[in-house]
Amino acid sequence: MEKIIVVEGGHPLHGNVRINGSKNAALPIMAACILMKGKSRIRNVPHLADVKTLLEILKDLGVKTERLKDDTLELEVIDESNVTAPYEQISKMRGSICILGPLLGKRKRVKIAEPGGCVIGVRPVDLHIKGMEALGANIIKEEGYRIGSTNGFRGAEIYLGGPYGSTVTGTCNVMMAATLAKGKTIVRCAACEPEVQDLANFLNKAGAKISGIGTSELVIEGVEELHGIEYEIIPDRIEAGTFMIAGAITGGEITLENVCLDHLTAVIEKLAEAGASVSFASGETGGKCFVKGSDKFRPLTITTLPYPDIPTDMQAQFLALLSIANGTSIITEKIFPNRFIHVAELNRMGADILIEGTRAIVKGVRKLSGARVMASDLRASACLVIAGLVAEGTTEIRRPYHLDRGYEKLEQRLSALGAKINRVTE
Ligand code: EPU
Repeated sequence: MEKIIVVEGGHPLHGNVRINGSKNAALPIMAACILMKGKSRIRNVPHLADVKTLLEILKDLGVKTERLKDDTLELEVIDESNVTAPYEQISKMRGSICILGPLLGKRKRVKIAEPGGCVIGVRPVDLHIKGMEALGANIIKEEGYRIGSTNGFRGAEIYLGGPYGSTVTGTCNVMMAATLAKGKTIVRCAACEPEVQDLANFLNKAGAKISGIGTSELVIEGVEELHGIEYEIIPDRIEAGTFMIAGAITGGEITLENVCLDHLTAVIEKLAEAGASVSFASGETGGKCFVKGSDKFRPLTITTLPYPDIPTDMQAQFLALLSIANGTSIITEKIFPNRFIHVAELNRMGADILIEGTRAIVKGVRKLSGARVMASDLRASACLVIAGLVAEGTTEIRRPYHLDRGYEKLEQRLSALGAKINRVTE
């Protein structure tokens, strides 16, 4: 029996919602524990399917893992003999490639299934491999696996620019591998995303020597060893952006707690340009953001680009918002050029969106209407939930398990804000 999400549209959101720790920061930070001696305690780790998948991979790689209360994870390497991550595990989550750098950097060997593409694109790992080879790894591809070894990494100068700019997880991999290398590594065209910065801060606290954090040039001085530490993950900027748009599109008024506003500048600017009212205050556990919607939004021109620009992970949610704007919007996708599968589903709900190459031309319609739709990936699912919140009638979203990869208890938290949303067995 299949689960579906049922959303009854037309209920404005009101109230407060707390933003969880960042998925995309938590994953490489968890993987970085492979590099360490001793126990690490990582706070603010969300309860997500992707976190669970990586925990299973880490367990098989000899990492003792324990979930404590208050969203804290305790991780400690107890056995370094296994270096293999099989297809069954890696194919569940592409982000698990983040174990490549730590395994080669610490255990000097790796056998990892090729992650392959996914519904948002081809997703090569050539830049990750280039980085590992520059540090001194020998990597071959055999029967769907990357098999690598090294006699010990040596610092190098590495350019990580690819056809769509830098690589987030590739930068994380090279940074992690270089922390234990002999000598200095310079990464040029490094990704500057807050999640990469969070990993660098985590590694430095554990004894690494990384400078240039948050810039496109990272300098990593190799150290002898890293030790276990306590650390708190940054708030999830994509979860925050998703709630902002959900609040705005319903014409509601919501307060987000535990947000890092600096990480959301471009998203907030665009929301305000569209006609939502957004203001801020500092809270005890992080910033607060007040979002007030509107009953008519202005069209926008948006291009997804690396940080600090509009993240590709917010493209689908903006598309839902702009589908009911007063005019024609253009969204250009510069990170994953084929990340538009959700468009056909939005059109099924009455949107008028045309894809031309890497561009979506969105003619705003007066209203969306509830329909049966299919979620294809994590952010596409969020887009359909947002559309369902404002559509006339009832929307049924199939394959809702995609949501659980990146949003903890989304239906419950939206319901607490006044949405009519449930997960039911069909
Ligand atoms: N690319 C290459 N070669 C490589 C690596 C990447 O050509 O070796 C290309 C990609 O195909 C893409 C671009 O470079 O066109 C950027 O990819 P990147 O490597 O930066 O993406 P990623 O590290 O695989 C992370 C997030 C994604 C997010 C992107 C972009 C994690 C686990 N995933 O992926 O998050 O969209 O950065 O910001 O951190 C999501 O959370 O829904 C999600 C997909």
